[in-house]
Amino acid sequence: MSVVVLISGRGSNLEAILDAGLPVSAVISNVAGAGGLAVAARRGVATRVVPHGDYPTREAFEMALMREIDAFAPLVIAHAGFMRIVTSGYVQHYRWRSLNIHPSLLPSFTGLHTHERALAAGVKLHGCTAHFVTEDLDGGPIVIQAAVPVLPGDDAGALAARVLRQEHVVYPRAVRWLLEDRLVVENGRVSVRGGDAQYLLADRA
Ligand code: GRF
Repeated sequence: MSVVVLISGRGSNLEAILDAGLPVSAVISNVAGAGGLAVAARRGVATRVVPHGDYPTREAFEMALMREIDAFAPLVIAHAGFMRIVTSGYVQHYRWRSLNIHPSLLPSFTGLHTHERALAAGVKLHGCTAHFVTEDLDGGPIVIQAAVPVLPGDDAGALAARVLRQEHVVYPRAVRWLLEDRLVVENGRVSVRGGDAQYLLADRA
């Protein structure tokens, strides 16, 4: 009943998942120098690197990645700043077992540079979304969202930091729910058995 966490970078969401006491069996990165690998190693968690550049196609990379993941027989695969688009083969293999954390209130601002785009759009609320990974990039069923205010004077860095603090709250929660088999997906909508709140409003924090 473990989690494999996929990362490409610094690994602060990975750290939040570890701090929440969730059973992480391995951390796998597509980037050899990813900061999160050191976080995992410090905590005694197994690490693997599958450099996407070593493979001729996206599919070949994913085959190698899936082999590494499946060696740990995880129940949940948590994409935590994992910066690769996955194909339908991957999605089908881990259907309803893989989650992603995205730094916007989806369906607004899919893709990259979400904080810059939120500022440019003049939205007054921004936030993050934990959702299932599907074929639809950043479009899978939503598990939990946290909203934060956009404050006068914010730049992308300040806003990103405010959102990231909430990512660290909601993502471990989503992963735990999935591990505990409490998530129900019906008609593209997710509910939680037990009725825990699927939103969080973080004023100023
Ligand atoms: C987070 O903002 C996450 O939402 C996005 O990439 C960033 C990863 O940060 N997908 P970290 O590596 O977890 O610190």
